[in-house]
Amino acid sequence: MGFKEDIDTHKLPQHVAIIMDGNGRWAKGKGKLRVFGHHNGVLSVRDVVEGAGELGIKYLTLYTFSSENWNRPKFEVTAIMELLISTINKEIKKLMENNVRLNTIGDIEMLPKKCHDELLQAMATTAGNTGLVLTLALSYSSRREIVNAARAIAKRVEAGVLKADDIDEDMFAQHLHTADMPDPELLIRTSGEYRISNYLLWQIAYAELYFTDKLWPDFRREDLYEAILDYQKRERRFGMISEQIN
Ligand code: IPE
Ligand code: IPE
Ligand code: MG
Repeated sequence: MGFKEDIDTHKLPQHVAIIMDGNGRWAKGKGKLRVFGHHNGVLSVRDVVEGAGELGIKYLTLYTFSSENWNRPKFEVTAIMELLISTINKEIKKLMENNVRLNTIGDIEMLPKKCHDELLQAMATTAGNTGLVLTLALSYSSRREIVNAARAIAKRVEAGVLKADDIDEDMFAQHLHTADMPDPELLIRTSGEYRISNYLLWQIAYAELYFTDKLWPDFRREDLYEAILDYQKRERRFGMISEQIN
């Protein structure tokens, strides 16, 4: 008996976002280097991507590397970038088999050229897939994303193609990297940390937040299903009162 059977597939979140945290602590707990944790985190990604697609989730967005993560020791950053390259390479066949479309958000031009090229290639290869949209947030900063959107809109106003009064929430959202996605209804963070760490600040305005103590390399599709079940038990009121919802 797992959690999957209890999930109401008519009430699935369309978009699940995950802050995959705790790789370093997981490795340290086993007396290994932090990088060992990142390698094992890939196994969790594989299982969760497959599990999400199998359930019928449309969008899965994984916080893979933040803009702030560039400040980690060079050895770790290099290892993560190398892991990214080899993983994309290895997983592409599975993504095709599972009809997954790969997408990215963030300043991916900041990534090493090999990594950047590999990503573009994989996105092009999977572009026609119609199943799960797997978005990797890479070199991602939500504040930067918002500032860039504001700048792009300001430029259009400056050029006279847009009036300041025409700026509204929908238009603003169209200038974010997530323009073609619905907002996440569910945000999961692993490793017992209760913070957002500059992730999807605009997009999670009304997301349900789910925190688990599990470290990312221990997280599997069953844990995703447990989080979705928890989500389905909540009442999303959007400022209204219970009687209006039911
Ligand atoms: C998440 O795990 C992966 C990345 C941020 C790249 P961490 O590397 O942050 O692991 P902890 O939080 O230090 O245990
Ligand atoms: C957030 O985790 C970024 C990713 C999961 C990629 P961090 O481990 O970098 O976040 P902080 O530093 O604990 O806030
Ligand atoms: Mg961390």
